Amino acid sequence: MTERFIGLMSGTSRDGVDAVLTEIHGDGTLQVVDHCQLDYPEDLAQELATAATTETLRYRQLGTLDARLGQLFARAVHALLDQTGLAPTAIRAIGSHGQTVHHAPDAEPPFTWQIGDPFRIAEATGIDTVAQFRPRDIAAGGEGAPLACGFHAMQFGATDETRAVLNLGGIANVTWLQPGQPVIGFDCGPANTLMDDWNRRHHSTPFDHDGAWARTGTPDPELLTRLLEDPFFRRSPPKSTGPEYFSPGWLRRVGGDRLDRVRPEDIQATLAELTVEGVRRALEHLHTRPPDRMLVCGGGAHNRHLMQRLARALPDTRVESTERHGVPAQQVEGAAFAWLAARTLAGESGNLPEVTGARGPRVLGCIIPGGTRSARHASAAP
Ligand SMILES: Nc1ncnc2c1ncn2[C@@H]1O[C@H](COP(=O)(O)OP(=O)(O)O)[C@@H](O)[C@H]1O
Ligand SMILES: [Mg+2]
Repeated sequence: MTERFIGLMSGTSRDGVDAVLTEIHGDGTLQVVDHCQLDYPEDLAQELATAATTETLRYRQLGTLDARLGQLFARAVHALLDQTGLAPTAIRAIGSHGQTVHHAPDAEPPFTWQIGDPFRIAEATGIDTVAQFRPRDIAAGGEGAPLACGFHAMQFGATDETRAVLNLGGIANVTWLQPGQPVIGFDCGPANTLMDDWNRRHHSTPFDHDGAWARTGTPDPELLTRLLEDPFFRRSPPKSTGPEYFSPGWLRRVGGDRLDRVRPEDIQATLAELTVEGVRRALEHLHTRPPDRMLVCGGGAHNRHLMQRLARALPDTRVESTERHGVPAQQVEGAAFAWLAARTLAGESGNLPEVTGARGPRVLGCIIPGGTRSARHASAAP
């Protein structure tokens, strides 16, 4: 049987939400059917950026953000349904990742926190909604991330070559797929989050389109060396991180006076190189040959400069967008959460313990029924 699921992904770039319509077949395979993207209004993006980097936030602010995001996610679902002409009843369920406000797998006790009220999504759409995927993995001793690796393996694994799936969102994460071997996956460092912020400080655009600005600069070797000395790059997996760690404050602290001495475009070029070098080192860490092919997804796959630098850093690897393998780059992570929702409804695990370090496979998330009435109303007479 084939059923339709919608995945909602709002990642560490805090740029908006991707709503991805998928068809999932009885054997668990998936096809992406349609996609719609809703950008966050500027004030919301700004509030989220502040929420991620400040230590204190008032309950009221947090509650308002949670509610506004829930409304926006529901709007994204409606926009996607309008676009496709489908009724809500045609959708089996929504899988909503939510917006991470704080990911702290190293805290004691560890936690991860996503907002974007899923009750509102269920109420506004009438569709069963699965949300809060990460906390169960954390509760089971895992990093809570990355969670898309199982989907990457199912969708992009090959029997005749080694592949790496690289997601270039706010943070970069890699899934290593070697035929016949367990999947390896982990966050490998910052990607767009620092480049977006640096770009916004110097231009009125939300990001450095195609990496055109970075291309005009030259990476500064000293700054790059300083940034790469961060212990995160040397840590063995499982590991995960977020923009609350690789923040503008981190760049300021670690980059120090170099940030004032180097031209802004050279810093942008250095941040692009930091992304590339983080990925290259992550692969080196695996002590195997570089992958035969690297399939890149996430918004960073559209950054031509970054893609060219990656290809240059990995001369023995074919670097290409997941688009060439059936799923447009911007839709992969959304599709992953549609797939994870289907697994949860089927009572199947969504995490890979070998990736997250959890004690075992777990059925992830909570299910919020979309229907407005039960078979027996609470006030009905017996
Ligand atoms: N044409 C482009 N050129 C350069 N960067 C791009 C382009 N399109 C998208 N991006 C980058 O991708 C980011 C969004 O990627 P996305 O996969 O949505 O990340 P996340 O999952 O963290 O939200 C943007 O913030 C931007 O940095
Ligand atoms: Mg995004």
